[in-house]
Amino acid sequence: MNTIFLNQFKTILAAAMICGIALFTNQPVFAQPPASAQGDNVVDKAVFNGWNIYRTEACGSCHESTGEGNVSNPNLLHSMKTMTREQFHRVLIDGRGIMYSFRGNKVVVDGADDLYSYLKGRSDGVVPAGDLTEKK
Ligand code: HEC
Repeated sequence: MNTIFLNQFKTILAAAMICGIALFTNQPVFAQPPASAQGDNVVDKAVFNGWNIYRTEACGSCHESTGEGNVSNPNLLHSMKTMTREQFHRVLIDGRGIMYSFRGNKVVVDGADDLYSYLKGRSDGVVPAGDLTEKK
């Protein structure tokens, strides 16, 4: 009777240890930022391209890397709630106030739709701030 109980106890102890090891080795996974752990930063080609243009053409030097702006530059996440694609294109082509025109910038002009998709996604809360990965 006692031996059976002891054997069961040993089995439970061994199982608990294995679980403990499994949890321990898994720790770095839990330590990752939630967005990438859930794959939220995996986006379609248009959004990915828009994010690249936003970074390389330095929109974030005024509107901040998050698009949220600051005291002198508008929060694009708010702007995108009401802006149409046409209005968005116009601002890029004509410029507005302190923001110079991107008319002569082929990357921005050709990528305006992708920029719109990226910023719209940010505004709708479906695209996170920070690095993105393209969906394959
Ligand atoms: C030199 C700083 C600067 C840069 C660079 C810049 N912007 Fe702007 N942007 C502004 C300012 C300032 C305004 C507000 C102008 C005003 O209304 O007087 C603005 C306005 C806008 C608006 C209109 C917002 C609204 O609510 O009407 C959009 C859209 C926009 N910017 C997108 C971009 C994108 C996309 C890029 C990169 C291709 C970019 N901006 C680069 C400063 C900048």
